[in-house]
Amino acid sequence: MPTKRMLTGDRPTGKLHVGHYVGSIKNRVELQHEYESFFIIADLHMLTTKNSKEDIAEVPANARMMVLDSLAAGIEPELATFYLQSAIPEVCEINTIFQNLVTVPRLERMPSLKEMARDAKKEEMPYGLLGYPVLQAADIVLYAADFVPVGEDQLPHIELTREIVRRFNQLYGPVLVEPAARTTRIARLPGTDGRKMSKSYGNAIDLADPPETMTAKISKMMTDPARARRYDPGNPDVCPVFALHRAFTPEARIAEIDAGCRSAALGCVDCKSDLSARLRDRFAPFQDRRREILKSPDVVRDVLADGAKRARAVASATLEAARQAMGLGHAR
Ligand code: TRP
Ligand code: SF4
Repeated sequence: MPTKRMLTGDRPTGKLHVGHYVGSIKNRVELQHEYESFFIIADLHMLTTKNSKEDIAEVPANARMMVLDSLAAGIEPELATFYLQSAIPEVCEINTIFQNLVTVPRLERMPSLKEMARDAKKEEMPYGLLGYPVLQAADIVLYAADFVPVGEDQLPHIELTREIVRRFNQLYGPVLVEPAARTTRIARLPGTDGRKMSKSYGNAIDLADPPETMTAKISKMMTDPARARRYDPGNPDVCPVFALHRAFTPEARIAEIDAGCRSAALGCVDCKSDLSARLRDRFAPFQDRRREILKSPDVVRDVLADGAKRARAVASATLEAARQAMGLGHAR
């Protein structure tokens, strides 16, 4: 059993797409042997931008879908702990404690929050959204994570977590674990319309998409907008199809595509069918495993139920240590 723990996670969006695969799942599959792995499904974080009853009603199915896709992609349930954030109420208490170790201007300087507020069409910053990185710090610290593999956009959140831990330990004693700020350099894949691949933009290619769906989505993908006709030369550097080739196609073939596009020897239709064939082959084993797991759907429920138990044990120990160090909760 590895001695160091990593923790990472996502908000409950549902099916995983190829952007998730390239950006994080592949990396998690590799890291699971090196670190004890905790994967959080951050439904409380979802509430910071989406909190309608309908949104919340989708959480259980979305959470199960994420676990299913992660297992099908190669995460081993014996090695990993998956759990729903809201199943472990301890996180709220540690969050409340942490809120006093950070200032509002410090949070207002977080670039990620302004972007999220804008995407969620919030005119004014919700209090919970301002506290998003504090709640994330609470997640990381509650499970005493040594390492948090996240994309570069989340780096400031890990940095803030480290500051909070140092502040806590300075005030109350060396109780909390400061996570390593090491992050993975994660490629951001564009979706079919050229924007970042995201379920909310409707531009994602899901890992579970049947081959025909993958092909149909890719054939409609945006290409170099300046390449209007078949015999116009193209610029692969601005083409989202090429960005996907970079993630899934061997080097030598990428060089050929690059040259073929620039000289107009290669047309977009052929370039796209080359990509579709690769994606279909690449994810066929994933789809087989996914179908296999779905034959006994209780597996996914059990993973989440066991995960919550394991997570809760760690969480309550950390919270108790923090309360002890602070001298909190004693009626004198
Ligand atoms: N903020 C992450 C996201 O982009 C989700 C998340 C919540 C998380 N808690 C975490 C990631 C703890 C890493 C560690 O959706
Ligand atoms: Fe994009 Fe390929 Fe068309 Fe070039 S040939 S513009 S890389 S789809």
